[in-house]
Amino acid sequence: MKQFSFQISQRACNRNMRCLCFLLFFTFSSNVWCYEDVSITNYIKTHNGYLFLRNLMTQTLVNETLNQGGPFTLFAPSDGAFFSFGQDKLNALSVGQLKRILEYHVVNGFILTSSETKDKNLTTLLGASILISPHGGHLDINDNNTHVGPTSDIIVQNGVIQPINHVLVPPEKYLPDETIIQVFLLDNIKFKDIYFALLFGNMVNHLENGTYTVFAPTDEAFAKHANRLLDPSQPNANRIYQVIMQYHVIPGEIRSSSLKNGPIFSEVGQAINITLGNGVILNNYARVVEADIYAVNGIIHAIDDVLVPPNIQELIMG
Ligand SMILES: *[C@@H]1O[C@H](CO)[C@@H](O)[C@H](O)[C@H]1NC(C)=O
Ligand SMILES: *[C@@H]1O[C@H](CO)[C@@H](O)[C@H](O)[C@H]1NC(C)=O
Ligand SMILES: *[C@@H]1O[C@H](CO)[C@@H](O)[C@H](O)[C@H]1NC(C)=O
Ligand SMILES: *[C@@H]1O[C@H](CO)[C@@H](O)[C@H](O)[C@H]1NC(C)=O
Ligand SMILES: *[C@@H]1O[C@H](CO)[C@@H](O)[C@H](O)[C@H]1NC(C)=O
Repeated sequence: MKQFSFQISQRACNRNMRCLCFLLFFTFSSNVWCYEDVSITNYIKTHNGYLFLRNLMTQTLVNETLNQGGPFTLFAPSDGAFFSFGQDKLNALSVGQLKRILEYHVVNGFILTSSETKDKNLTTLLGASILISPHGGHLDINDNNTHVGPTSDIIVQNGVIQPINHVLVPPEKYLPDETIIQVFLLDNIKFKDIYFALLFGNMVNHLENGTYTVFAPTDEAFAKHANRLLDPSQPNANRIYQVIMQYHVIPGEIRSSSLKNGPIFSEVGQAINITLGNGVILNNYARVVEADIYAVNGIIHAIDDVLVPPNIQELIMG
């Protein structure tokens, strides 16, 4: 007969919470876990000690992500953690950067301090990984100054909350200083032509305002079209460049990990067909050669061909 060990979560439900309990069956025993029947977002919203986190989640709309789906594990910096991070430092960050920092605190699945036994790298929603190391009942995150506690394993409807004493800061690559345009401008290896194409198409100011994903043809990609479609000396060259470059710009930040098979729409509404498999292919001819180049205001995926809108003639006549 199975041995039943009724292990009530330390976050034992008190009278004010709406709780549900469920059985976790293992081979030799089954544990009863009780959890608070709210989303991660609502837990953070309604409990003391998470004022900073609550505001940042709302500001970056990470509150929406953590309100449904899952399960997720949120490593939740306390108010003390944000206080020691520094208000000035927080104020200096853009909403996009704050969003990336928050996404660095979320992983898919349940990470319970009580069931981790060895060091593990976990991929966060940002894409960067964090290292968890169990140590005598503690769970350290990335370094031995940052740990879960004093409370832990707060189980809710769509995951688990692990309070932590420091804000986790992702590696530099994920919080660059350059905007999309600056990335192009400062690159001497593969993005010289795109900068001029954007300039020529009158898109530079536009890309400095807002958050975008740019499928960026490399210089080699532009070279394939030189003196034909992309000839700056033809009569309506500025309009041609604009129509073509607009087709490479998608509103919002879409990392390669969230690209799906099917159409994605440029900011002017034209579809680009994505095919995943052996890499990422656009419209059956352009391949992503370098994914996820982070900028302050979005993300760049370098591609090896220029995307030409199917209805380009119509667009040029506009
Ligand atoms: C998330 O925050 C926004 C405000 O930025 C608010 O409109 C929205 O209702 C919040 N969503 C949830 C699920 O709390
Ligand atoms: C975690 O990742 C780092 C950096 O890639 C690596 O050095 C380390 O060995 C990994 N640790 C584990 C436990 O996988
Ligand atoms: C914490 O980490 C630092 C640097 O990695 C190391 O020098 C130190 O010995 C560690 N402290 C403990 C208590 O493990
Ligand atoms: C930036 O974009 C917003 C929204 O699209 C627009 O209202 C605003 O005028 C733009 N600002 C500049 C300087 O172009
Ligand atoms: C995208 O795929 C659809 C359906 O297969 C097709 O009709 C359309 O022409 C494709 N568009 C481009 C730009 O390749």
